Amino acid sequence: MIDERDIIQKTTDHVRGLLSGEGSGHDWFHIERVRNVALTIAREEQADLFVVELAALLHDIADWKFAGGDHEAGPRAARDWLFSLDVPQPTIDHVATIIASLSFKGAGVETPMTTIEGRCVQDADRLDAIGAIGIGRAFAYGGHKGRAMYDPAVPPEPHSSFEAYKKNSGPTINHFYEKLLLLKDRMNTLTGKKLAYKRHDVLEQFLDQFIAEWEGER
Ligand code: ADP
Ligand code: NI
Repeated sequence: MIDERDIIQKTTDHVRGLLSGEGSGHDWFHIERVRNVALTIAREEQADLFVVELAALLHDIADWKFAGGDHEAGPRAARDWLFSLDVPQPTIDHVATIIASLSFKGAGVETPMTTIEGRCVQDADRLDAIGAIGIGRAFAYGGHKGRAMYDPAVPPEPHSSFEAYKKNSGPTINHFYEKLLLLKDRMNTLTGKKLAYKRHDVLEQFLDQFIAEWEGER
């Protein structure tokens, strides 16, 4: 019998150590929020809570955006860590598959999740990209990358491939049209959808106000 509580505790400490103070919106608090929301969704969906919690905790430890574009880095780092804790191989495979399939890859690219556990984690990760927190994270990411907030001369692009999405370096407001506003219709679970609708409204209100102020509303 493996000690699931011990594995979760060790993984929590490991990830907190790796991501505390990270400045691009992938910090430990992002992980903690995703873990909590993923577990809330997973309880509703009667998913395997151990797999959901491990995948949520480990999903951003080696993101391709910060690993020189290496897409295998994230799942591999998760595999290595879980292997070191003697987690059973099927659980390692499941968690690594979830992490490999999680990311948004452009407006025109589908990102299917084959298991209910993956669908819970994907919804939770995407919920953290919208609403008030999502707005904060988008501008934190844009600032980290030295991007403009907004440039009316640069229109948003509906990326039809992951390659195009990755190359993009447009202003942060464009990211709302290229990803954030699309997420509510891509939720997998009913619980995720309900949470997404409220957060989506926050994005819409923010954009209306941003443009009004930009155009000199008093
Ligand atoms: P996740 O944490 O969901 O895997 P990402 O790693 O793609 O998501 O992005 C992390 C955060 O940074 C998200 O809130 C996302 O919307 C934001 N972000 C990603 N790309 C951009 C961008 N080009 N401009 C602004 N924000 C971005
Ligand atoms: Ni994430």
